[in-house]
Formats: sequence, C-alpha cells, structure tokens
Amino acid sequence: MRVLGIETSCDETGVAIYDTERGLLAHQLYSQISLHADYGGVVPELASRDHVRKLLPMIEQVLADAELTKAQLDAVAYTEGPGLLGALLVGASLGRALAYALGIPALGVHHMEGHLLAPLLDDPDLKPPFVALLVSGGHTQLMAVHAIGHYTLLGESLDDAAGEAFDKAAKMLALGYPGGPAIAQAAEQGDPSRFRFPRPMTDRPGLDFSFSGLKTFCLNTIAAHRRAGEPLDPQLVADVAWAFQDAVVDTLVIKCKRAMVNTGLRTLVMAGGVSANRELRARMAAVMRGRQVKVAYPSLSFCTDNGAMIAFAGALRLQHAEPQTLSIQARARWPLTSLLPLEPG
Ligand code: KG4
Ligand code: ZN
Repeated sequence: MRVLGIETSCDETGVAIYDTERGLLAHQLYSQISLHADYGGVVPELASRDHVRKLLPMIEQVLADAELTKAQLDAVAYTEGPGLLGALLVGASLGRALAYALGIPALGVHHMEGHLLAPLLDDPDLKPPFVALLVSGGHTQLMAVHAIGHYTLLGESLDDAAGEAFDKAAKMLALGYPGGPAIAQAAEQGDPSRFRFPRPMTDRPGLDFSFSGLKTFCLNTIAAHRRAGEPLDPQLVADVAWAFQDAVVDTLVIKCKRAMVNTGLRTLVMAGGVSANRELRARMAAVMRGRQVKVAYPSLSFCTDNGAMIAFAGALRLQHAEPQTLSIQARARWPLTSLLPLEPG
C-alpha cells in the first residue's frame, strides 16, 4: 500500500510517500522559520497561508521523486491534530479532496502518534511494549505504549513543554527561533562549572514535569550577571545555555529512569523535536546502557515535524482498515490516550 502523508500542524510543511512493501519512497520538508522569524514565534494565519502555497507543489515533487503518478497512490494520510486549527485545515482539506478525487481512502492521523512511531521507520524490529518520551514544542509526556494505539499516560508537563522552554530561554538569550538547536550550539562553548540550574520536580515522586520555573531561573540569572546597557556577553549566553540544557536533559533522564523502574519495561523510545538534542541522546543512552534498557530515537530529520511520520503512522492504521468518513475534521486538542488500539490488548 502506497500512502501519501501530509503534515501541516504548525510551521513545517511535510509531504512523503510511504510504501508498506518498500518503505519510505520520498519525502519533502519546507520550514517556515524565516517567515515567522521577525515575530519571535509562529503566526498562525501566516502559517496557514504558507501551507496553501507550498503543499501542492510539494506533493507534485514527492510524486516525481518517487517516480509515481497520483493514480498509483492507494491512500492519503494527513495530520488531523493536535496543532494550529487553520494550519491543520489546509492539510486536512487538501488530503480529503485529493483522496475523494482519486477514489481512495483518506485518514486523519494524530500528530503525536506520528512522532511516537517515527523511530519505527528506521527500525522495523522495534515493537511495543515500550516507554515513550514525547518531547516537542507542544508536548512533554511519558507514555506506556502497550500496543500501537494503546497508550497510557505516565506523566506530563504541568506547564511548558520542554521544547517551548528551550524556545523561551533562547529568546531571552537573543538566540532566535527555534531555540532548541540554537541553545545546543551556544552551550558547546559554555563553562559547565559556572551555573547550576534546578531540576524541577525531581525531588518528589511521580512522573510529571514542570519547566516554567527553569525559564524564570534563566531570566533571573541573566539579569544578575549582565552589564546594564550593554549587549549580552557571548560567554554569559554560552554559560546560561549550557546550564539550561544541562538541567532540562538531567530532568528528562531522571524521570525516564523512574518510568523504566515503575513499568519494568526494557525499551525507551524518544521522539519529537527535542529528541534531536545530542546531549539528551548521549546522556540518556549512557544511563540506560547501565540498566540494560534499549534507547531508540528517530533519525535526525524525523525528530522534528515531517511528512514521513504521518505517511508511516497512516499506513499502519490504514492497513487495519480504519472506518472512513468524508468529513473534513481538524482538532486543535486531541489526547493521544483517546486513540483506538490497532490490535486487541
Ligand atoms: O516536534 P516539533 O518539530 O514540533 C512540535 O510538534 O512541537 O518540535 C519543535 C521543538 C521546538 O521547540 C524546538 O526548539 C525543539 O523542538 N528542538 C530542539 C532541538 N531541535 C528542535 N530542542 C533541543 N535541542 C534540539 N537540538
Ligand atoms: Zn511535532
């Protein structure tokens, strides 16, 4: 089955074709980062309009890259939510209309299920049950994955998502958007001994997170060390970036260790934009190695938003013949735990 995947939940337009026999045939990604740069964050209306501009040419491009015609597609999968409603509606409308015109099924995919399953794109042997750490710009969640589609929430952020905290800290440090990669790069020049940021909620039981206090700690540290009226000292920026990243990574590692102990599971899957963070990958792998826990994450290009994960998650669900409707639906909010399992149990 050849599935066209469309991702338009935020500021990336992602399109891909996944073949259940041959794997990923083609994928294209267009990032709107420069479009939103002047505003310091994603402007929803601009995002929607840009998806309208980019989507059709990108679909033509992936078809050409895969050397396929539209008639050779068997299904369309698009991101139904969660995300920016207007942006989602672009992908949902186009996906449904295209499928209707071609007489093939279309399926709305959960964006976070796309992230969660992205590591399976490269590693077909990776199978539930496992624990998933979902760390993106909108979510920080620990999920027990019993089967594909059968998820139990173990813990989540009570305020900011980890990626959002990276973005806000980067803004304070005038490092631009998206903040995760910028902080990681600045941190390479940081002095690890200069600042130590707190590890929020690690001294109490449970698997919930809180990152908004770290943001305030970051702001106060900058205010206490910057020289009034002068631009930020690059060494201060690097040192704060290091301490901030260190605290987020450490917090995520501590909670993941706890989740593995609580569940007794032997595999940890990390997914979402923040799972691209090298320091997080390295430290998580080192800690879990000592506990005989396998750590898996997507290849770098499939950590952040992309069409391949939607084509793949859609293909898995479409193979199990999900009920079809013709209605175009987009959901700004949509709990992952409300999905239907693919297999009984
Ligand atoms: O998964 P994603 O592309 O979009 C959402 O579904 O939210 O994640 C984007 C988030 C942004 O907050 C970005 O700053 C963060 O992922 N991110 C990173 C890195 N690359 C992206 N955070 C830390 N380190 C990175 N290398
Ligand atoms: Zn995402």
